[in-house]
This record gives sequence, C-alpha cells and structure tokens, in this order.
Amino acid sequence: MKVLGIMGSPRLKGNTDLLLDEALKGAHDGGAETEKVIVDKLKIAPCKEYYGCLKDGNCAIRDDMDDLYRKILDADAVIVASPIFFYTVSAQLMLPISRCQALWARRYVLKNLDIPVKRGAFIAVGATKGAKLFDGPKLTIKYFFQAINAEYTEELLIRGVDKKGEIKEHPDALADAYAIGRRLATS
Ligand SMILES: Cc1cc2nc3c(=O)[nH]c(=O)nc-3n(C[C@H](O)[C@H](O)[C@H](O)COP(=O)(O)O)c2cc1C
Repeated sequence: MKVLGIMGSPRLKGNTDLLLDEALKGAHDGGAETEKVIVDKLKIAPCKEYYGCLKDGNCAIRDDMDDLYRKILDADAVIVASPIFFYTVSAQLMLPISRCQALWARRYVLKNLDIPVKRGAFIAVGATKGAKLFDGPKLTIKYFFQAINAEYTEELLIRGVDKKGEIKEHPDALADAYAIGRRLATS
C-alpha cells in the first residue's frame, strides 16, 4: 500500500505542510509506505496545449513531471494538500494538475483503462471563514482526481488559519489529518 502526499504550499512547516505530515504519519502507522512530494521544489511547466497526449497519452514536455506521473500512477492513495490562494489551490499545485491532462487524455480520449484506481484525499487550509471558501478548489481537485482515476474519499477543509504553524493551535485539525491518513491505509 503506497500513499503519496502532494504538498502544494511554498511555505515549509506551514499549515498545509504540517497537516499533510500528520496525514502521512497516520498512513505510515496504518502500515502504508508513504512519500511526500513538495511541488514548489520541482521544475514543472504548466500544460502548454501541445496535445501530444491526445496521440499516445504522454505529455510532450520533459521535466520533473515525468517522475511525478510515475509516482501518481504507482500510488494506491493520493493526498493532495494546499493552502487556499485567491479561492483556489496554489499556483504551484496547479502546474502538475494541469499536466495531468495527459492522464485525462489517456482515460477519456484514448479509452485506456490501465490507470489503476486509487483513493484520493483533499486537505486545504485558508485564512478566512467564508461559506464558499472551498467550492472552487473542491471542484478542481474532484476533476483532478477523475483524471488520475482517484475516488474522492476524504477531505479536511480548515477555515480561519493564517499564520505559519497556527494550525497547531486548532483544536482537532491535526488529529483529523492523522485519522484520514490512517483510514486511507487501513480501510
Ligand atoms: C497569495 C495568497 C493568497 C491567499 N488567498 C486566500 C484566499 O483567497 N482565501 C483565504 O481564506 N486565505 C487566503 N490566503 C491565506 C492562506 O490560505 C493562509 O495563510 C494559509 O494558512 C496558508 O497556508 P500555508 O501555511 O500552508 O502556506 C492567501 C495567502 C496568500 C499568500
């Protein structure tokens, strides 16, 4: 059982990072092999609409996404974590998401059914408390999960947390993140 965590914040040891670490700890304690990818440290171009993927399901661009495609395809569960930036996920996270158009093309254009099904969890944290704070990012992640053949099985959406590390003062967010990881690994 492999659980891949995709960390979308540029702020290391910030709120997203701490939540994802707890989720991965839960998955590890549940017996899973875990790996965390920090997208801000990777060189990943956005989708350029070359549409090589429509021919054979492979992106024409060669960069760190090559490795991330392999990791995504290899995982039994993917946890995507992001801060909310302008009512969506971070720009850093949108880069690999846009490149997963290649996997979408494999599934929905080339009708390639070889992309293994996996489970998906979304963790997000924003500073404000608006009712619609997560509407946009949830749609983005649901569609991303469709492309990588992940079922949207878990979510942890935290409002009202802003300063670096402030999530540690939240009454139950870190425990909830841990529980999500453990459930992904064990159920
Ligand atoms: C560029 C930028 C845009 C942001 N946009 C929003 C927003 O639209 N809504 C919101 O609630 N918080 C917004 N925030 C606040 C962050 O979501 C918040 O500080 C979060 O806790 C950061 O998580 P991190 O420590 O994992 O990076 C924004 C912060 C930045 C830097």
